[in-house]
Amino acid sequence: ESIDLLEVRDFLVKLAYEAGELILSKTGKTGFVDKANSVDLVTETDAAVEKLVGEKLAEKYPNFEFMGEESYVPGETKLSEKPTFVVDPIDGTTNFIHSFPFSCTSLGFTVNRIPVVGVVYNPFLKLMYTGVKGHGSFLNDEPLPLRKSFSNLTLQNALIGIEWGTQRSGPNYKCKVDTFNKLAAEDGGMIHGFRSLGSAAMNICAVAAGQLDAYWEGGCYAWDVAAGWIILSEAGGRIVGGNPGIWDPSVDQRVYLAVKGDEGTEQFIKDFWDSIVGTLEY
Ligand code: IPD
Repeated sequence: ESIDLLEVRDFLVKLAYEAGELILSKTGKTGFVDKANSVDLVTETDAAVEKLVGEKLAEKYPNFEFMGEESYVPGETKLSEKPTFVVDPIDGTTNFIHSFPFSCTSLGFTVNRIPVVGVVYNPFLKLMYTGVKGHGSFLNDEPLPLRKSFSNLTLQNALIGIEWGTQRSGPNYKCKVDTFNKLAAEDGGMIHGFRSLGSAAMNICAVAAGQLDAYWEGGCYAWDVAAGWIILSEAGGRIVGGNPGIWDPSVDQRVYLAVKGDEGTEQFIKDFWDSIVGTLEY
């Protein structure tokens, strides 16, 4: 049977506002614990938001699957072909802990493992990003992208989102450091600058809005990316790299580049992979 994607979006928007209320009510009041290491953090609010969202989705859409950051079991949880809600209750948990106002709830919906609806809501700044396959994407009521490029996108004129992520040793860390170094250096990309919003979804939405030209991550999970993926695609941009389009959540550390739609995009992607990341081990 066909799924009414606009109805799914409207329900996810409602849930995102509810999640936002809960997040705001706990800001500055939650303790945190470590997961994999001392920079991989989680709070009781992450779990509370996932429970709220998970229960309401199960009630409304009992036949759809659910995959969430806090209930993910490494090696066991798989993103299936079935209609699935892919949820990060708080993307930007470190921001949330520090009261830096760039955390959001990221609610994606995939069919055949491809995102078709995305809702990303930052309750601190009241930023509601939505995207539905075939229906465009929006920031609040404004269609995305908010602005067109000032010139063809090249490495040399790009403002690029990056994150340190949680891996701070080994090949993944080295790949990140080498990539940042090559992008910044005069004999490398010599880009305009880096920005770190501290949330994968916020970074991807900033690309969709045309505020960042690209966002490069050295490792993410499906819930960090699913909602942003369709919001960016509907704004004319795309995500390339690692394993585009298909996720296997049992495989960690997917390297990817989110890039806006622009006359220079194809060449930019080629330059990025050929001269910056392509030669590195990750
Ligand atoms: C993290 C953030 C961060 C990114 C990490 C993610 P979380 O998500 O999006 O910016 O660099 O890869 O895991 O833990 O805050 O939900």
